[in-house]
Order: sequence, then C-alpha cells, then structure tokens
Amino acid sequence: MLQIKKLEEGQNFPYSLLLLADPDIQMLHKYLHTGICYVAKLDNQIVGTYIIKEIHLNHMEIMNLAVLESFQRRGFGKKLLEHAIQTCKENGYKRIEICTGNSSIHQLHLYQKCGFRLWEIDHDYFIRNYSEEIVENGIVCRDRVRLVKEL
Ligand code: COA
Repeated sequence: MLQIKKLEEGQNFPYSLLLLADPDIQMLHKYLHTGICYVAKLDNQIVGTYIIKEIHLNHMEIMNLAVLESFQRRGFGKKLLEHAIQTCKENGYKRIEICTGNSSIHQLHLYQKCGFRLWEIDHDYFIRNYSEEIVENGIVCRDRVRLVKEL
C-alpha cells in the first residue's frame, strides 16, 4: 500500500524525482528550505513526492509533484495531490494553488479532476525563465498556468 509521509529531518531529499517536475535546481533549493517535502513509499521505495509551501497568509502552493516514471498512471499522482489538499485543510489553510505549463495536458487534466480551477496565465514565463525550449504533447511550453482550489 502507498504510504505518504513528511520527509523526516536528516533524510535525503529525492532530488531526481523532484527534478522530474521542474528541472530548475536553483528554484528547487529555494523551495526545499522554505517548504515541506512529502514522500510516497511503496514497499519502502520512494515512488512519489511533492513540496508544499506557504505563499501568503492561509494560502499554500504545491510544487514539484512527481511520480517515478515506471509507477505513473496507477493513480499515485492523484493520491499525492489529494494528500496535499487534505494536509492543507487539516492545517487550516483556505486556498491551495498549483502551477503548470500550457502544454502539460495530463497535469491540467489531473488538477481539474481534483477540483482546481484555472486562475491566472503568466504569458511566456517558460520562454523568459528557461534556456531550452520545452515541447510536450507536440506543443511548445510557453505560458505558466496557475490553478487554484478553495478549501
Ligand atoms: N496520459 C494520459 N492520461 C494521463 C497520463 C498520461 N501520460 N498521466 C496521467 N493521466 C491521467 C490519468 O489517466 C488519470 O486520469 P483519470 O483519473 O481520469 O483516470 C489522471 O491523469 C491521474 O493519473 P495518476 O495515475 O494519478 O497520475 P500519475 O501517477 O501518473 O502522476 C504526474 C501524474 C503528473 C505526477 C506524473 O505524470 C509525473 O510525475 N510527471 C512528471 C512530473 C510532472 O510533470 N509533475 C507536474 C509538474 S506541474
């Protein structure tokens, strides 16, 4: 059974997994020290992760949600997202946000199925901030989409 727990102090961060969601290691370092990292284990193997970070009073953001490639499409991504939502709710947060790219069709599907709504578009965010072009599902990733769920 999948077990999702806070990464304990002294445990190594699952870097390769976290970087699957966003290859920007400098940004990742920033989040790691200001956010909380959760890991999902199956038979003692880390198969998924996410970070949550307070971005405003009562507002949390989920970052670097990722599932190991060979374990994707088994519902673990959805379980991690639901876990993040529940954790924020239990801690009294009123809103949860998540960002993705315009070309991340499966992520947009998953987030909306979990109740997130499209909120804001930062046009050309990925063109401005990433040195290499990102193409997914045959679409150039240009714009950052922010989705929001009220808790
Ligand atoms: N093709 C078609 N549908 C897909 C899909 C794919 N490649 N990946 C996910 N889905 C759909 C599933 O069918 C499911 O929909 P359903 O509930 O209608 O059946 C839904 O998305 C959730 O699938 P799930 O199995 O829970 O997702 P996952 O375990 O594969 O994890 C990610 C989803 C996004 C976390 C995972 O693909 C991943 O780690 N990707 C790389 C990192 C990344 O992009 N992170 C997000 C950064 S914004």
